[in-house]
Amino acid sequence: MWIFGYGSLIWKTGFTFESREPAFINGWQRRFCQASPDHRGTPEFPGRVVTLIQAPGEQCHGIAYRLPSDQLEEIIEELDYREKNGYERLAIDIHFRDRTELGFVYHADEQNPSFVREESPFEIANRISQSHGPSGSNIEYVLELQKALREQQIIDSHVTELADLISGQAFEPPSTE
Ligand code: SIN
Repeated sequence: MWIFGYGSLIWKTGFTFESREPAFINGWQRRFCQASPDHRGTPEFPGRVVTLIQAPGEQCHGIAYRLPSDQLEEIIEELDYREKNGYERLAIDIHFRDRTELGFVYHADEQNPSFVREESPFEIANRISQSHGPSGSNIEYVLELQKALREQQIIDSHVTELADLISGQAFEPPSTE
């Protein structure tokens, strides 16, 4: 059984796996449009984490993990708990350089109550830079994700833009006048 990770599962794996390989899924994009009241924020001030949005013709690159069949049930139970805020397991074709395997991915769809619509990169970055939750700061989530993607030679312009904004490299608050 394979699981495709595209967010925290890339850099904060936290479960046992047999092997990990770079992989991608077709027709999806990684986006910071899922509110996080439980990991990177609080119910009063939720942070922002990634989910997948449909994007025909696009690919989302990440890491696929092969799960040990004798521990499958407990690993999935733990992951279901970790990803409980709006994410559902979705069966998906996971593409590798040399083959395709059927696996699953945690996907929070647009109907889930924590899905956030139409925020600008500035609004997302602003929110992220102020959010902290039980799993740590929201800034850490973005910067660790960006670092892990870079290590895999994955360029994701959305993640890069947010990482640059919160690192202050392109931070230009809108004028209040
Ligand atoms: C994932 O990493 O694949 C799911 C989203 C997250 O936990 O950040």
